[in-house]
Amino acid sequence: MNLILLGMPGAGKGTQAEFIQKDYGLANISTGAMMREVSRSNSELATRVQSYLSSGTLVPNEIIIEMLVERIQKEDCANGFLLDGFPRNLDQGKALDDANISIDLVLYLSIKEEEIISRMSGRRVHLASGRSYHILHNPPKKDGFDDVTGEALIQREDDNPEVIKKRLSVYYNETEPLLEFYKNKNLKFIEIDASKSVDVVTDSIRQSIST
Ligand code: AP5
Repeated sequence: MNLILLGMPGAGKGTQAEFIQKDYGLANISTGAMMREVSRSNSELATRVQSYLSSGTLVPNEIIIEMLVERIQKEDCANGFLLDGFPRNLDQGKALDDANISIDLVLYLSIKEEEIISRMSGRRVHLASGRSYHILHNPPKKDGFDDVTGEALIQREDDNPEVIKKRLSVYYNETEPLLEFYKNKNLKFIEIDASKSVDVVTDSIRQSIST
């Protein structure tokens, strides 16, 4: 099964991707995590990518598409994969078609903008793995530390009010048109109410996958 998680920044894609990966054994591909990793490398590309991440704008298609298509060719994707954060605009969606990468299911995590600000400002992440927590709604076992490695959690630099505003406007202008793009395709498109608790959203996703 090849699956796409669509939704606003902060809707809970990364949180749910972890459960889906564990439950269904799919390769979990987060282009945000890929870009954060590139930005930490010592290269000219790192400096460029970092400037997009910190401003909340999209990394240009010519950088990201080839990287993603190559990633999907890897062996761990043979039994299916889950895309978190890709595609982000119509050209990226069409690039999957052009590369003959078929998608079986699109899960759209739907949520109101008001909810997003509180989710993002309370988010803490484990940078190396991308695991994401929330200080109130999804806290780690030990305050400030990752459950699995015990390493310190950080606050993402793009989780500040100015950059969140920019990321939301990028979402409306560039990513939202993908909803119609996928609704009009011959695949399963399911809208999930992502304003519910983490567990309730996970249950809805399980049901959607099994029907
Ligand atoms: P990316 O890392 O993909 O960020 P995003 O799409 O903005 O999504 P987030 O990671 O912010 O949110 P999420 O939906 O995963 O929410 P989460 O589960 O963490 O991209 C970052 C940047 O990389 C982009 O701005 C761009 O520059 C670049 N980039 C990435 N992909 C690209 C592409 N394809 N093309 C070009 N550029 C690209 O949850 C958020 C918080 O809410 C957490 O604290 C969590 O614990 C909490 N939470 C989750 N679910 C619930 C719930 N049900 N109830 C209460 N709290 C919850």
